[in-house]
Amino acid sequence: MTATDEKADGDGPTIEAYYLESRTFPPPDGFTDEALIGDDGIYAQAEDWQAFWAEQAKALDWYKPWDTVLEWDLPFAKWFVGGKLNVSYNCLDRHVAAGRGDRVAFHWEGEPGDTRTITYEQLLDEVQRFANVLKSLDVARGDRVAIYMPMVPELAVAMLACTRIGAAHSVVFGGFSADALKDRINDASAKVLVTADGGFRRGAPSLLKPAVDVALEDTPSIDHVVVVRRTDSDVSMTEGRDQWWHDLMSASDLPAECEPEQMDAEDLLYLLYTSGTTAKPKGIMHTTGGYLTQVAFTHKYVFDLHEDRDVYWCAADIGWVTGHSYIVYGPLANGATSVMYEGAPDTPDKDRWWSMIEKYGVTILYCAPTAIRTFMKWGLRYPEAHDLSSLRVLGTVGEPINPEAWVWYWQNIGGGRCPVVDTWWQTETGAIMISALPGVTTLKPGSATFPLPGIGAEVVDESGQRVTLGGGYLTLTQPWPSMLRGIYGDPERYQSTYWSRFEGRYFAGDGAKLDDEGYLWLLGRVDDVMNVSGHRISTTEVESALVDHPTVAEAAVVGAKDATTGQAIIAFVTLKADAEADESHGEDLREYVANKIGKFGRPKTIVFTDDLPKTRSGKIMRRLLKDVAEGRDLGDTTTLADASVVEEIKRRSTVNPSEE
Ligand code: PRX
Repeated sequence: MTATDEKADGDGPTIEAYYLESRTFPPPDGFTDEALIGDDGIYAQAEDWQAFWAEQAKALDWYKPWDTVLEWDLPFAKWFVGGKLNVSYNCLDRHVAAGRGDRVAFHWEGEPGDTRTITYEQLLDEVQRFANVLKSLDVARGDRVAIYMPMVPELAVAMLACTRIGAAHSVVFGGFSADALKDRINDASAKVLVTADGGFRRGAPSLLKPAVDVALEDTPSIDHVVVVRRTDSDVSMTEGRDQWWHDLMSASDLPAECEPEQMDAEDLLYLLYTSGTTAKPKGIMHTTGGYLTQVAFTHKYVFDLHEDRDVYWCAADIGWVTGHSYIVYGPLANGATSVMYEGAPDTPDKDRWWSMIEKYGVTILYCAPTAIRTFMKWGLRYPEAHDLSSLRVLGTVGEPINPEAWVWYWQNIGGGRCPVVDTWWQTETGAIMISALPGVTTLKPGSATFPLPGIGAEVVDESGQRVTLGGGYLTLTQPWPSMLRGIYGDPERYQSTYWSRFEGRYFAGDGAKLDDEGYLWLLGRVDDVMNVSGHRISTTEVESALVDHPTVAEAAVVGAKDATTGQAIIAFVTLKADAEADESHGEDLREYVANKIGKFGRPKTIVFTDDLPKTRSGKIMRRLLKDVAEGRDLGDTTTLADASVVEEIKRRSTVNPSEE
């Protein structure tokens, strides 16, 4: 049996009981008066949802208006058909043309403390130059460009430059391994790779270029590599393939201007790979007009952005969808001033975020529950040492937030005066789908509250019947502008993954519960996707990495509840005869997975076992393993071939926890 075998009989989704918090938090005094949306009239306005989205699309600049708002051939959507626009124009030129060129687009801070202040005019200048660099490297409209970078401004410049010339980018998070980078480059047949020597992380350079060199041993489509010098580390440059960013950008014959391409609303804007339930990541396709419409709308209204005075900080990495939509495209389309930070929250000390909020006068903070739980653990003295009174809206994303963390955030970071918007969405949805509106919604800690105006979301039971009270599966009932248009090169998989489980509905993969006031409570994934510190990774990916190791006979991976990271990766491993089941070998296997996938995929614990619990038909019973990993009493094990296996694993898993 291999890691990609089907899941066990009767091992279907489980919906866990969830504690429904009873405290409620109406919008704070005075907030509603100043809010962009101060009453719930917008929900009624959005009942004609196609007309509503068409209205929102008018906030962008179009070269040519669309002929049709939506063509819907379930499950294939086309939004704003016939419309033409350019994303970089909307994010840059139009703000400069309106006299806002000297507004700061990014207050960027490197981990060592170096800073750069980049205005809209400067960003436009850099983007045009880099667009011309890409052209000089033979990148044309319709090509794909891979980007593998730390959190430096050049990352945003490279993305915007792609959009300017109509090339699609595929950003690969800098924490991914060489192998993962190679697979993504090959799947997309990217022509050019934009990268850096490395970035700073926890006080030292963390190099990227060595991984690039390994990945590129086997990427026939890549012709050129552009390397940003960030750390001044000694990295190797391959003659004829690799060139320095600064050399290309300062070439005397490089034109300063680059006319934006007039793109169709449905032209591919980018690919972003995400984990599904198999070992092969999916290249999620996002297109131009609908995506920009929804990220701009949600960024403005979910965070109540007053772009002339707010200082907004999304503390995610651009390598994930949160950074694409809410560091780059949403904020820039809205002409916002953002903070962008390169490094770790505890460098040089555990108050780094709070000192930056004080320094830049941040008014809106958007981060993941994992970060909040980590700050809770570190203690109040870090935020208390700083003036956080500039803050007025707080957001969370990426995983369910437990009420304790929500209330801690509200009280200690927001000072009891900032609404906390818990935003539910996915790489596939492109933009926020379920969230409070801060000037309107009475909040309940732990609930993402309601679908946004223009969005249809419902909970259904096993048979696809709508549930109006209680638990079930989260589905989306109608197309939305920023929805994925498919999986790159695999239309079948798009249909079967998202649109087959419940007829006519998009199945998100999440469990959800509705309370008696219609509030939505997200319960986490009901499939084999884990969520570790807000990072999405499938059990099968980790299993595949493990069984690839020469000593491993079989592996089963589960995500177990973890107080800080939400879930932790626990791997049950059976070794081939002769291999030593000791701690040092467990360590080797953890490293092996980190090298295959990336550090965030490293199992927290490896449990060696002589056998894995299987049904009589030979399928691994992962649900039992999850029970063991979470220390629960075991339920019915009657279908188990050899019940003693579980007892044995239970015994071992308490004696062999290889803690991080
Ligand atoms: O399980 C849900 C969880 O994150 C998944 C999507 O992961 P990804 O594509 O990496 O995008 C993360 C950032 C948008 C979802 O299927 N998730 C995301 N936001 C929330 C959430 N779970 C509960 N509450 C949220 N606010």
